[in-house]
Amino acid sequence: MEQNLEEIKALLKKYNQEHLLNSYDLLDNNKKRELLNQIKTIDFELISHLYDTTKQKKQNCSDEITPMEYLDKYKLGDKYKYYENIGKEAIKEGKLAAVTMAGGQGTRLGYNGPKGTYDIGLDSHKSLFELLCDELKEQGKKYGVTIPWFIMTSRENNKQTLEFFEKNKFFGYQKDKNIFFFIQGELPMIDTEGKILIGEDGLIKMAADGHGGIYESLVKTGMVEKMKQLGIEWVFIGGVDNCLVKMVDPVLMGVAIDKSVTVACKSVVKANPHEKVGVFCKRNGRPNVIEYSEITDEMAEAKDKDGELLYGESHILCNLFSVEAIERMGSEPLPYHIAYKKAKYIDKNGDLVVPDSPNAYKFEAFLFDAFGEVDDMAVLRVKREEEFAPVKNADDVGVDCPKTARELYKKFYNI
Ligand code: UTP
Repeated sequence: MEQNLEEIKALLKKYNQEHLLNSYDLLDNNKKRELLNQIKTIDFELISHLYDTTKQKKQNCSDEITPMEYLDKYKLGDKYKYYENIGKEAIKEGKLAAVTMAGGQGTRLGYNGPKGTYDIGLDSHKSLFELLCDELKEQGKKYGVTIPWFIMTSRENNKQTLEFFEKNKFFGYQKDKNIFFFIQGELPMIDTEGKILIGEDGLIKMAADGHGGIYESLVKTGMVEKMKQLGIEWVFIGGVDNCLVKMVDPVLMGVAIDKSVTVACKSVVKANPHEKVGVFCKRNGRPNVIEYSEITDEMAEAKDKDGELLYGESHILCNLFSVEAIERMGSEPLPYHIAYKKAKYIDKNGDLVVPDSPNAYKFEAFLFDAFGEVDDMAVLRVKREEEFAPVKNADDVGVDCPKTARELYKKFYNI
């Protein structure tokens, strides 16, 4: 360990991060080893580059933004059955798997635990995980298959998530046979001076690298390989916090297969032109999602000849990918976005600091930044009341909260 330590000291000196070893001598041997291993895996060049980006002014967007074509699931006419039959065949042949992204911190909800374990207040008191699993089992029964379920956790919530599933006997699924857990990547958090933070445990304060980390972690953790072994060709990737998510949709699959695209996404039409959601678009001719803050009022309100919003298709994190697309996306780095957050840390005197306002940068990749990789992509508009009931905020916010999700869920299932 000693030789190791000297090399690490030199590395830290080079990147002006020597404070990371301030409390090293106070750690037990296991923690010492863990800290050194953490330091060895950090890409300090990347961190110093990311710190520089926090200082740069946001550039005005000079990209060419144009509308993205979409299909409306309920205006397909005869084609509905046609696509549905194609999708049904593929599902029956066991070609579909579901991935649930459950690595987020759920800060807005303010619940102390993995969001998937949250009870939205139904009479059954089922957790989000169980509601999602119910739907998977129901659909699997319909097509005579068990849809393999892959769950992405973060290092922060992996243990609690696994314990929850164990306690609930994996809701009838079988671990490592048809339900698989994998941990997403993470990056250190830094302060406004570019210094990497040390957390309460004496180790580097890491944070999950955003839902865009999904591709790389599916590849790196061997999940893509597993999918191939299971004969899977299509993967639905969705969030854990949408209790109406429909992960098994033969029409979406039929569209993807028939149109020979490698990614097919669901959208719901914006509730109003200024709803604060990201919408599908083409950026410099490539598929993308544009944030509400990036488009002008004029663009937000623009309509086509049928009176539909030109930029009205909201991205709801309901996307179907071919396994091959995931593999490709997982080998290309995505840009990181900066989030300014509150983070407890140990200061240079060894004291715990609990900030009451944001003090640290967290870096996140967004899943839709990989869409530009795709030559062609299909967007299928679905009905909000059938497929989108997210749990993002606490009830006092009044939108996208447990209360609204519960009401939408009850209405859809007529319970
Ligand atoms: P959100 O962007 O809504 O984040 O994630 P969040 O963590 O749930 O909530 P806030 O922003 O802290 O309040 C959308 C989906 O992506 C997953 C989340 O678990 C959720 O299902 N996600 C997000 C990850 O799996 N990992 C991440 O690093 C970020």
